[in-house]
Amino acid sequence: MEARGFTLNSNGTNSGIFRLDGKVAVVTGGASGIGRAIATSFADAGAVVHIVEVDKTSAEQTVGEIQKRGGSAKWHLCDVSDQKQVKDIFCKIGGNQPIQILVNNAGVAHVGRLETTTDEDFERIFRVNVKGVYNCMHAAVDYMKTAGGGRDPQSCIDRCHSGPRRSLRLLHEQGRGAYHDLFRCA
Ligand SMILES: NC(=O)c1ccc[n+]([C@@H]2O[C@H](COP(=O)([O-])OP(=O)(O)OC[C@H]3O[C@@H](n4cnc5c(N)ncnc54)[C@H](O)[C@@H]3O)[C@@H](O)[C@H]2O)c1
Repeated sequence: MEARGFTLNSNGTNSGIFRLDGKVAVVTGGASGIGRAIATSFADAGAVVHIVEVDKTSAEQTVGEIQKRGGSAKWHLCDVSDQKQVKDIFCKIGGNQPIQILVNNAGVAHVGRLETTTDEDFERIFRVNVKGVYNCMHAAVDYMKTAGGGRDPQSCIDRCHSGPRRSLRLLHEQGRGAYHDLFRCA
């Protein structure tokens, strides 16, 4: 696991200490909010940024702003919960160059107690916030392996902290974590 950090100046720009020159970074949901801040900071640090998004208007705007700042960015229309779309997009990105960084940021929010959370809410949140992350990691892992550098490719993938034994039981561990959180919050 490689830990990295960087600070932003008061004007929101990269302080210059953190560099990602030439690294290919995929940021899901990178058109707005936290994802947009990550995409912009990574591009400021020299990364080639690929935004994977459902919101065409915001994605175009964010890419335009990054390019105006001198950064390199493209966006791809893709719903992370759709495995076929995700595979096609990662093939397009990773087919030309190895992928070094994946930021699993795309997500949808929901506010509701147990009593007011419907079957549709549950399905929607899991489809995007859990299956979407699986879809992207699954589609990226081979392209990240080819990035090499002697590092475990999983070390680049946000939210993937499992050790070798736990990674053999990926779905079991994920389900257990979801169960504990559901029980704790209900
Ligand atoms: N903002 C917070 O306080 C907070 C707290 C905890 C966790 N998070 C998580 O951080 C992430 C970003 O949060 P934010 O506040 O910037 O959210 P946001 O709504 O501003 O941005 C999310 C982005 O993801 C995109 N997106 C949504 N569904 C998508 C899909 N199926 N495929 C591709 N793109 C999709 C949206 O178009 C949007 O651009 C989310 O995953 C959120 O759950 C946010």
